Amino acid sequence: MLMDYLAQNPLTAGERVMELGCGWGLLGIYCAKHFPVDVMLVDADPLVFPFVEAHIRLNAVQVRTHEVTFDRLADQTLREHDVLLGADICFWPELATQLRRLIARALSQGVRRILLADPGRISFLRLAEEFEHRHEGRLISWKAHRKVGTRGYLLVIDR
Ligand SMILES: C[S@@+](CC[C@H](N)C(=O)[O-])C[C@H]1O[C@@H](n2cnc3c(N)ncnc32)[C@H](O)[C@@H]1O
Repeated sequence: MLMDYLAQNPLTAGERVMELGCGWGLLGIYCAKHFPVDVMLVDADPLVFPFVEAHIRLNAVQVRTHEVTFDRLADQTLREHDVLLGADICFWPELATQLRRLIARALSQGVRRILLADPGRISFLRLAEEFEHRHEGRLISWKAHRKVGTRGYLLVIDR
């Protein structure tokens, strides 16, 4: 869904992009492959990075990686990025709590755009609705235009 959204709402040349909870890194790698941007892939689980490295090689892109939890991401690292992306990273209430803290810190450090995608789990919808009620973000229902026609939700925070 986020790849589909970005195909229609492209990243700007030179933007510094961080993918949160990257898993095997496909979203960030898509960004590095299709836009002239600088990408960092972040995940708490050290076991994902061999798969990330394999996908980096297969796609012949250059991206940076960082093993860290949302709560331990440094303010300095946030300051060095313009856009935060995350797909399917808000599936427990505790993750919503961590993401709420992280988004607040990121915005205070000058991050301009945050895009999160989710199939519609309650933790994500509650988090997104909070930002919508405060007029700080938009919850969008999204149907991907590509082959699989995936449906779900995007939280778009745009400064
Ligand atoms: C369901 S997977 C989604 C992976 C990828 N974004 C995707 O769409 O395929 C969730 C990912 O978030 C990571 N994660 C979970 N909690 C985290 C935390 N507190 N800090 C950083 N990463 C976390 C997990 O290690 C996992 O790789």
